[in-house]
Amino acid sequence: MDPLALISKYYHPKSKAYQILLTHSRAVCDKALKIAMKNNQLNPDLTFIEEAALLHDIGIFMTNAPDLYCFGDYPYLAHGYLGCDLVTKLGYPEHGLVCERHTGVGITKDEIVAKNLPLPQRDFIPETVEEQIIAFADKFYSKSKDLCREKTLNEVRRSISKFGQANVVRFEAWCELFL
Ligand SMILES: [Fe+2]
Repeated sequence: MDPLALISKYYHPKSKAYQILLTHSRAVCDKALKIAMKNNQLNPDLTFIEEAALLHDIGIFMTNAPDLYCFGDYPYLAHGYLGCDLVTKLGYPEHGLVCERHTGVGITKDEIVAKNLPLPQRDFIPETVEEQIIAFADKFYSKSKDLCREKTLNEVRRSISKFGQANVVRFEAWCELFL
């Protein structure tokens, strides 16, 4: 599988959306691979991590996120499951699940219902070690500003804490596991 070839089907390589997507995705990919290599006792699949990390945000073009030069109809939060649908249709359902489950530290069905989020009512929680590593690595990089700057652990913690205690607990479990 060639993740860049798949991305190029939906993003013109000279477009700003492509530049933002690739800059972000490469940063997340590098971080995810570093975490994976540090944790080889967990036996992570490095090839899969590289491919799926590059693809994890492929769905953003279908959302309305003008700051990212994306002018679709869906709310930004939908980019995960939209990316999953796309990548699954292309024949890569396991990569699709990385797209679908990487948002925040995962989102439960209960959170979707309680907060009335614009998502299908099911659990979006990273399950495999590869899904967890990519979601974790993603939290260290913004797409909206300073694309290449890795956030400090405290900055990530602060942003996660805005989403409630259950999210903090999930994030701290990853810190414990991966750092
Ligand atoms: Fe991301």
